[in-house]
Amino acid sequence: MNFRLTNPTDIEKAAQEFLDHCQPLAQATIVGLFGDLGAGKTTFTQTVARILGVNETVTSPTFILEKIYKLEGQKYERLIHIDAYRLEKPEELLTLGWKELAEDSHNLIMIEWPEKVAGMLPDQIHELRFSHVDDTTRDLTMTFV
Ligand SMILES: Nc1ncnc2c1ncn2[C@@H]1O[C@H](COP(=O)(O)OP(=O)(O)OP(=O)(O)O)[C@@H](O)[C@H]1O
Ligand SMILES: [Mg+2]
Repeated sequence: MNFRLTNPTDIEKAAQEFLDHCQPLAQATIVGLFGDLGAGKTTFTQTVARILGVNETVTSPTFILEKIYKLEGQKYERLIHIDAYRLEKPEELLTLGWKELAEDSHNLIMIEWPEKVAGMLPDQIHELRFSHVDDTTRDLTMTFV
């Protein structure tokens, strides 16, 4: 599925579509967000969080690596936002409680820079690929497993 994002409404629509396609599985729903610096991975995750009723400001987890939001009355109980950019090796993901989080079907886990934790993720994950078109425009391709 392809989207061109030029304004917040486009992002909102794409985020809603994304959520419509996510269904709880036997384990956590894991989503890799691919794309260069500034491609829009955090912006998209913030929009998803808002749609899921998260009130607090969803900051970029770049410096804290992981944020867990408790959800109320949604198909998932938790939204987990991970930014793997600063991890030095894939195994560091384990220090974030990865094993338990990934096994819990109530979790929707969105990971920026999934390339940094290659080998730690299941073979099949949902993929969101963002690319720069120009200053205000991004292309997004979603692939669901
Ligand atoms: N259509 C768009 N979609 C998303 N962001 C956009 C768009 N147009 C402009 N922007 C701007 O691009 C930047 C995207 O930043 P964001 O933090 O979401 O990127 P990121 O992919 O998470 O980067 P990083 O890899 O550094 O974490 C923001 O400053 C945002 O305002
Ligand atoms: Mg980011």
